[in-house]
Amino acid sequence: MSFDHNKYRPYHPINKTDRQWPNNQITQTPKWCAVDLRDGNQALMEPMNVAQKVALFKLLVKCGFKEIEVGFPAASQPDFDFVRKIIEEDMVPDDVSIQALTQAREPLIERTYEALAGAKTAVVHVYNSTSPVQRNQVFGLDKAGIKAIAVEGATLVKTISARYPATHWNFEYSPESFSATEPEFALEVCNAVLDVWQPNASQRAIINLPATVECTSPNVYADQVEYIHEKINFREFIDISVHTHNDRGCAVAAAELAVMAGADRVEGTLLGNGERTGNMDIVTMAMNLYTQGVDPELTLENMDEIIRTVKECTQLPVHPRHPWAGELVFTAFSGSHQDAINKCLQQRTDDTPWDVAYLPIDPLDLGRSYQEIIRVNSQSGKGGAAFVLQNEYGLHMPRWMQLAFSPIVQKATENHQGALDSQTIYDLFFDSFTPIAPWQLEHYGWGDQDGLNATILAEGTAHTLQGKSDGPLHAFVSQMSAITGDSIEIQDYEEHAIRKDNPQAGSDAHAATYVSLKVNGQNAFGAATATDTLGAALHACVAAINMAARNNL
Ligand code: KIV
Ligand code: ZN
Repeated sequence: MSFDHNKYRPYHPINKTDRQWPNNQITQTPKWCAVDLRDGNQALMEPMNVAQKVALFKLLVKCGFKEIEVGFPAASQPDFDFVRKIIEEDMVPDDVSIQALTQAREPLIERTYEALAGAKTAVVHVYNSTSPVQRNQVFGLDKAGIKAIAVEGATLVKTISARYPATHWNFEYSPESFSATEPEFALEVCNAVLDVWQPNASQRAIINLPATVECTSPNVYADQVEYIHEKINFREFIDISVHTHNDRGCAVAAAELAVMAGADRVEGTLLGNGERTGNMDIVTMAMNLYTQGVDPELTLENMDEIIRTVKECTQLPVHPRHPWAGELVFTAFSGSHQDAINKCLQQRTDDTPWDVAYLPIDPLDLGRSYQEIIRVNSQSGKGGAAFVLQNEYGLHMPRWMQLAFSPIVQKATENHQGALDSQTIYDLFFDSFTPIAPWQLEHYGWGDQDGLNATILAEGTAHTLQGKSDGPLHAFVSQMSAITGDSIEIQDYEEHAIRKDNPQAGSDAHAATYVSLKVNGQNAFGAATATDTLGAALHACVAAINMAARNNL
C-alpha cells in the first residue's frame, strides 16, 4: 500500500498557554515586502529576463510597495544585471528600499554589496537554515555550527557595509526553515545575530521568520511568531517579518495570524507565485484587510493590469477562482444568488457601508464592472436575465414580465449548454415578446382633438384605427378588438425612458413599454422600444396581440 499515513509524524505544537493573538484584531496594515523578483523568480520554470523583471518592478512600485526584494544577485547574473540597471538608470523611487538575498558566505555577501552599490537605501538579507532536518541531514552540523554560520554572516554583512557609506543600509536575517525549527533555538540564533548588528533607532534590523515549508496549521505558526515577538532582544528596534509558503494552502491565514501575534512586516508576492505551492499572496491578504475597513496602503484597483503583467512575467495562469482577482469571482451563476445581488444593488446608496449579499466587495473597487457579476445559465432564475437587460441595455422589465421571460431563458440555456451572453439574452427577449406578424403598426398619432389615428396592416390589408376612448392605449386596444373580433383587455402596463447614455439600447430608442394583455381570457405579453412613448406603447400592444395570434389564443 503506497498511501500510508504511518509514514508521517504529527508536528508537536509549541507549549504555549498564555497566547494572546487569538484575541487580537488587525487594525493596521503591516509593512509589505514584495519578493516576486527573488522568491517568485526562483520558482519559475523559465526565470524572468531583465526586461520582464523591469516590467514587474515597475508594477510593484505602481502598486505602492515601499520594500522590494529585487533578487539574489550573487547567485544569478541576470539578477545582478537587473539590480545594476535599476540603480544606474535611477529607476528606484526615493521612498522605495530595495533588498537582495544572500547566503551567509563571504564571497556571496561581497557580490551582493557590489550589486547594491549606489542604492539610496537598501537591505542586505542574509539567511541560513536552522531546522533539525537541515542541521542533521543537509549540513551535518550541530546547533553551535549553525549558529556560528549565522553570526559569521551577520558580522560580514555589517563589516562590508562600512565600505559603501553612500547607501543607508539595513540588515535582515532569516533563520530559514524557521517553522520547523525548535523555537528556543531559532530565538537563540536570532539574538546572536542581533548582538552583532546592535540595531538602534537609526539602523533598525529585520528578523524574518520563514515558514519555508508550511508544516502546521496556521495557529501553530502564530504561536511560534508570538514566542519570538515576546522574547527577542532589541524588540523596539527590529521589525518582525513573516514569510509564509503555501504548502498546506494556508499561507495567507498564517501571515494574518502572525500579524495578530505581533509581526510588523509581511513578505509575499502578487497573486502568490513562489516556490512549490507559492508564497503567500499579498493581493489576497491586502484585500482581506480592505474588506475589514483597514487601508492596505497598496493600489490594487487596476487588478486586470496586475494580472496581465504578472502573467506576462511569470508565464503562469491565474486561476479563474483566485481570491479577489480571478475572472469568475464576481460572477453569480445561481438564480437565487442573482436575485439577491440584484435586489441589494437596487437598494444600495453611496453613503452607506457596502452590504450586498454574495458580493463581499464592490467589484468596481478592483476595476471590474457589474456586467461581469451575472452570467445566465441553466442554474439562473429570472433575476439573472433581468439584471443583464437592465444593466447592459437599460431595460427595466417589470416583475410579471420577468416571470413570463424566465421559462424562455431556462429553455434556451438548456439547449445552449453554457452561459448565454448578453446579446443572446437581448435577442431572445425581443424575439419572444415582439413578434412582428400578423399585425404591423404602420403609422400612428394622437391628437387632443381627434384622439388616436393609426394604421395597421395585416396580410396586405390596411386598417385605420381612430377614436378617443380612455387614452391612446385603451383606444387602440378597443379598436383592435373590434377588428379582430377578439376580447382584448389590458392587465398590466409599464413604460420607462431609456437613458441616452446606454449605447446598446438601440441607437435612437428613448422609451420602452411592457404590456400584459388578456386575449380571449389568456395572457399575452408584448414589449417594444421606440423613439417616443406612444410608439413604444402601441408597438408593445401590437406585439402582445401578435403573440396571441401566434399562440392561437
Ligand atoms: O522561504 C524561505 O525560507 C526563503 C528565505 C530565503 C527567506 O525564501
Ligand atoms: Zn521563500
